[in-house]
Amino acid sequence: MNTKIIYLVGYMGAGKTTVGERLANLLGETVYDTDKMIIEKEGCSIQDIFSRYGEEHFRHLETEILKETSMLKGVITTGGGMVLKEENRELMKSSGTVIFLECNPMVIFSRIKGDAERPLLQNKNEIEFSSLYEKRKPYYEKSAHIIIDTSNSSIDEVVSEIE
Ligand code: S3P
Repeated sequence: MNTKIIYLVGYMGAGKTTVGERLANLLGETVYDTDKMIIEKEGCSIQDIFSRYGEEHFRHLETEILKETSMLKGVITTGGGMVLKEENRELMKSSGTVIFLECNPMVIFSRIKGDAERPLLQNKNEIEFSSLYEKRKPYYEKSAHIIIDTSNSSIDEVVSEIE
């Protein structure tokens, strides 16, 4: 398994960013976040990209950024939809170790509902949010070398399990 890069994949709100930051710290590595890199490169927020140019354009930017990160070394945290394209799944799997942070969408929803920074969360109730997760779950599973169930674990427990 290629451990030059550790990719964290999973649904929005699953804790990828927090786990990624702590993990990178622990391993003495750098953390890169694909959403943050897109925001920096485009000079506007994710919700602005969605509302001005649409989701498809965002997905294109996401793949371009992923190609850049695949040449780096460190921990890479990805947006919740990164696994949707086969091209992205293959690139991650061949250039690093992919860890899926599995979660309970009901628990996540109560924590992140109302977050205006996540366009795909807008106008969704708990059932719709959970059903999007169920649709995506096979893609998270397909993309991953390792699956970690985070539902009953603290961030520290998840980080030490990965370590
Ligand atoms: C998305 C998740 C977001 C962000 C964008 C789309 C998704 O990232 O990439 O809003 O399709 O699930 P987080 O997983 O960090 O919320």
